[in-house]
Amino acid sequence: MILPIVTEPNPLLRQKAQPLKKISKRIRKLAQNMLETMYAADGVGLAGPQVGVGERIIVVDVGNGPLTLINPEIISNMGQERDVEGCLSIPGRNGYVTRAAKVKVTGVNLDGRRIELESEGFLARALQHEIDHLEGILFIDYLDRAGGEAD
Ligand code: NI
Repeated sequence: MILPIVTEPNPLLRQKAQPLKKISKRIRKLAQNMLETMYAADGVGLAGPQVGVGERIIVVDVGNGPLTLINPEIISNMGQERDVEGCLSIPGRNGYVTRAAKVKVTGVNLDGRRIELESEGFLARALQHEIDHLEGILFIDYLDRAGGEAD
């Protein structure tokens, strides 16, 4: 099921999402709907708050298959990289954002298993962007520091 995507300046995007205690049937269904919604919108990532769910769940697919992470956390990062980003919640805008070049992320998958993921490049960027959503942070918050809007 395709869910409506919350767009800026909806205050839901600025709320801090809550940790999930249990991987229930509802969460598995939510993850499936979030992936469907992301693919339908031609996106590479989506976070709970973007579909009006204030819980710590993200989905990402940068071309290597779908990834769902519950309660994701960045446990280490390395280097810096500046590249163009957009966001399904901020249609029609993009800009340069400087982020860590590599991140190690931990979280729980839909089987309830803790996983650890080392990422770089576009995947690392997408993970950082989606985890930011769980803190109420949007990529446009970085634009001043990063040097402005792309065309
Ligand atoms: Ni986004």
